[in-house]
Amino acid sequence: MAAVGVFPVAGRGLHLALKPGKKPASIEGVTGAGSLGAHGAAHGVLYGCAVDVRALANDAAYAKLIREQCRILVAENAMKWGPLRPAVDKFNFDEADALVAFAEENKMKLRGHNLAWHRDNPRWIDATVTAANARQILTTHIETVAGRYAGRMHSWDVVNEAIEIKDGRADGMRNTVWLRLAGDDYLELAFRTARDADPQALLTYNDYGIEGETPEAEQKRQAVLGMLRRMVARRVPVDAVGVQAHLSALAVPASGTGPAYGDGMMRFIAAARELGLQVFITEMDVNDKASPANVAFRDAAVEATYKRFLDLVLADPAVRAVLTWGITDRYTWLDRESARSDGQPERPLPFDADYHAAPAFYAMRDAFDRRKA
Ligand code: G3I
Repeated sequence: MAAVGVFPVAGRGLHLALKPGKKPASIEGVTGAGSLGAHGAAHGVLYGCAVDVRALANDAAYAKLIREQCRILVAENAMKWGPLRPAVDKFNFDEADALVAFAEENKMKLRGHNLAWHRDNPRWIDATVTAANARQILTTHIETVAGRYAGRMHSWDVVNEAIEIKDGRADGMRNTVWLRLAGDDYLELAFRTARDADPQALLTYNDYGIEGETPEAEQKRQAVLGMLRRMVARRVPVDAVGVQAHLSALAVPASGTGPAYGDGMMRFIAAARELGLQVFITEMDVNDKASPANVAFRDAAVEATYKRFLDLVLADPAVRAVLTWGITDRYTWLDRESARSDGQPERPLPFDADYHAAPAFYAMRDAFDRRKA
């Protein structure tokens, strides 16, 4: 693997310097003791990824890669309301059970994602849920799903993405079907129900757009912290906060330096720690949309972003897990939902579409190694 470096050049943003294709002595193999899971475990980091359950069943190389690298898994989609509950009185656990079985066969931990969200809800929700039945429908879902896997889950994303500043509420809450129909205290209801259904799972609030050094990210961080503080004050059972970390690679030279990740993220993590919460990096990937088509440049920009962000957050002992949203570029959601304008497949993950370790792999592994135990 040619080692590449990305060097900020004053006034010209990023400059790519390709070093001769010499394998740095430090690069061991990428499996076994050389895997992300092993290096993470040696430094107090649980590494894993989101799993496309259909690919897991149909692509042996994908299943092999996950077995080699991961200590914890989460279903990318299989445990969401839409895939799980085709009708208000009908659950289909086939795909979720398949992932749980795979994880348990391979002695991996499991995250559940998610028990309440505004997206990927089944069509019957809008036609069926009313103010009269919303709380019952929500609690039945949580009791059924979290209850099914009770004692087998490392953690659950109990509520996902409940903050949306643009919706204009003073508390920053997103105007979702659950807020409207189950009431302002729907998070409390969801977390208490989840605790009763699975007392062993770490109950997590998960959100995105709280990583950057921008006014918008800071405003969202404050709204998330305000909500968590109110929950903790009311003794709502919440154990962790998930920082999704869907990041953007350092931007192209023309636009100067890319999005910074810095003090705001660290203050948020420290505040969560002071509330007694663990912090999970739950959905990390680095889109390279702002970078030119040149693959070496994109890989270097993605590598630099993994390095910058992980060195930052792993400095805080509250950060206990890092999951990437997928593990190989072959199946990244980004090509489906946030594609490059030039149509080039994106390169956001530690392994490329041919299952070769990308520069991002080494950036992650080295960041795990730099973590002071
Ligand atoms: O499985 C069906 C397939 O049978 C059908 O033919 C096809 C066309 O309608 O849809 C397929 O389901 C899609 C699913 O991805 C699997 O590809 C859903 O429509 C589509 O909405 C779903 O998108 C997922 C998205 O969340 C919404 O649930 C993405 O894969 C997934 O990566 C993305 O992940 C989210 C996290 O859950 C929360 N944080 C943000 C993150 C990125 O948006």
